[in-house]
Amino acid sequence: MTAILEVREIVTAYGQSQVLHGISLVVGQGEVVSLLGRNGAGKTTTLRSIMGLTPPRSGSILLKGRELVGHKPFEIAKLGIGYVPDDRRIFPDLTAEENLEISRRLAQKSGGQWTIERVYKLFPVLERLRASKGNCLSGGEQKMLAIGRALMKSPELMLLDEPVEGLAPLVVRNVMEVVREIQRSGVTILLADQNLKFCRKVSARGYIIEKGLIHHHGDMESIWQNEEIVRKYLAV
Ligand SMILES: Nc1ncnc2c1ncn2[C@@H]1O[C@H](COP(=O)(O)OP(=O)(O)O)[C@@H](O)[C@H]1O
Ligand SMILES: [Mg+2]
Repeated sequence: MTAILEVREIVTAYGQSQVLHGISLVVGQGEVVSLLGRNGAGKTTTLRSIMGLTPPRSGSILLKGRELVGHKPFEIAKLGIGYVPDDRRIFPDLTAEENLEISRRLAQKSGGQWTIERVYKLFPVLERLRASKGNCLSGGEQKMLAIGRALMKSPELMLLDEPVEGLAPLVVRNVMEVVREIQRSGVTILLADQNLKFCRKVSARGYIIEKGLIHHHGDMESIWQNEEIVRKYLAV
């Protein structure tokens, strides 16, 4: 396995309050890897640390061997990481298509493999809603638009924060297909979620986080079958 992302012993704090106490994980080229844990475990903070939005106080984050710590979020995005935050940040007054278009322009690189047409092929619902304003889209549609928007920058690695949280079962299945399709296109994915069923369906490996520490990692099937771990770190 060739690593695309290596997170080594990162320590991250909000002011005086230390939240990550030395998180390490590896994501191989082409993998979908899950970061699983309950609310407040540190999943979002881990993704924000990778993006440089909440820079770690110590530790190292390597993207294809290149150190990310010390770089600004926009620089990290330019190096090929697409981030889909859990709160989506769709522009409410722009249409779905304008939301996609603005992202392509911000990426400032032409000839990326992802185009609006390709995003519409992946999300036919967005094509139907291309002229609808962001604030008229449902939660699920906004999540898809946020993923589509990140793809418009043709990232090599995508960080997805709670992509199916709050979605109806039918829409969850839809997002599953989308994640698989994105993986097939060659994009690597690190997924933060607490939905074990969803993670098991889309990813082969996972890390279990609790109170800012990784407590276990392995293939999703063995995590799924490990009742003790599920009860201790995942069940509500
Ligand atoms: N902006 C913040 N300021 C202070 N503490 C925060 C902030 N964001 C998150 N935390 C705390 O950090 C811990 C981890 O949160 P988070 O990374 O959001 O967990 P998760 O995404 O797994 O639910 C929680 O205890 C949370 O209260
Ligand atoms: Mg979170």
